[in-house]
Amino acid sequence: MSAGDAPPEVTIKVRRDGPLKVSGPVRLVDHDGLVISAAGDELVLCRCGRSAVKPFCDGSHRLGFDGTSACPHSS
Ligand code: FES
Repeated sequence: MSAGDAPPEVTIKVRRDGPLKVSGPVRLVDHDGLVISAAGDELVLCRCGRSAVKPFCDGSHRLGFDGTSACPHSS
C-alpha cells in the first residue's frame, strides 16, 4: 500500500442468532496484546458466550442463542 491509498476494508457481519463474521485483513490480539490470529481474511467470533474456544465460534450457539436484540441501523 502506498501513501494515499485507502486501507483495506474490514466488514463485520452480525449473523442471525449466531456469531460475528469478520472479513478483511484483521489481526486479533488478546488482553496482553499477544496475537491470537494474524491469518486474516476471515474470522468468526462468538457472540453467544457458549463457545469452548472463545473468542472463536464453535457452533454452540445452535443450542439456542437468541441474538435478535435490537440495535440501531445506519446506512
Ligand atoms: S456464537 Fe457461535 S458459539 Fe457463540
